[in-house]
Amino acid sequence: MTRPYVVAIDGPAASGKGTLAKRVAEAFEFAYLDTGSLYRAVGVATLRTGGDPAHPQDALHSALSFDLNLVNDPAIRSRAAGEAASQVAAHPGVRDALLAFQRDFSRVPPGGAPGAVLDGRDIGTVVCPNAHVKLFVTASSEARAHRRWLELRRQGEAVEEAQVLQDIRNRDARDAGRASAPMKIADDALLLDTTELSIEEAVSSAIALVANALRLQPK
Ligand code: CDP
Repeated sequence: MTRPYVVAIDGPAASGKGTLAKRVAEAFEFAYLDTGSLYRAVGVATLRTGGDPAHPQDALHSALSFDLNLVNDPAIRSRAAGEAASQVAAHPGVRDALLAFQRDFSRVPPGGAPGAVLDGRDIGTVVCPNAHVKLFVTASSEARAHRRWLELRRQGEAVEEAQVLQDIRNRDARDAGRASAPMKIADDALLLDTTELSIEEAVSSAIALVANALRLQPK
């Protein structure tokens, strides 16, 4: 049996990697996994049980009793959930607990799909180092803060844009500075800077990069 295609899409908070990953998956009829939603779910579960996301044992307990239904709960998209996610994600035990699920998804994509797209921070470096194609999606912190602020506002969360920019900077520093699977650009990743691109331009670029690397025709 041939190995399913694996597309790894990494990048910092609100870089647009989720939208790109979803659209790339649709274009090639691959399965899609938003790995950030796993960390967000663990963060929210830790808060809901009265635990502290910064505390390794509290976070690990939530990761080990992981409820997959939580990844579809809109509550994981809040600003507080993003913050809790990046705190639980710094604990090596939590990362280990979520690793097998992510690797299984890439090896046997659900629904018999011919490939899988995973997006996160460490997909190309740790989860799927042998991915067929790796993209690192980035944008200036100001552009990312503006996009995330619009998104939070749409969800009804009132917050100053300057505060969102500060959150993004804190989160970048925590994600890139942690000892366990820090966010970094894999040596063989293709860089996509979306600062000056519209969503459709960024989507077209991502699909073209993947089509070229896999020698596949998108739908
Ligand atoms: O949507 P956004 O870019 O804000 O973040 P996300 O992809 O939902 O991830 C939330 C947090 O989970 C990140 O800030 C990371 O700390 C963590 N994460 C991670 O450590 N590794 C991944 N593969 C995915 C997310």
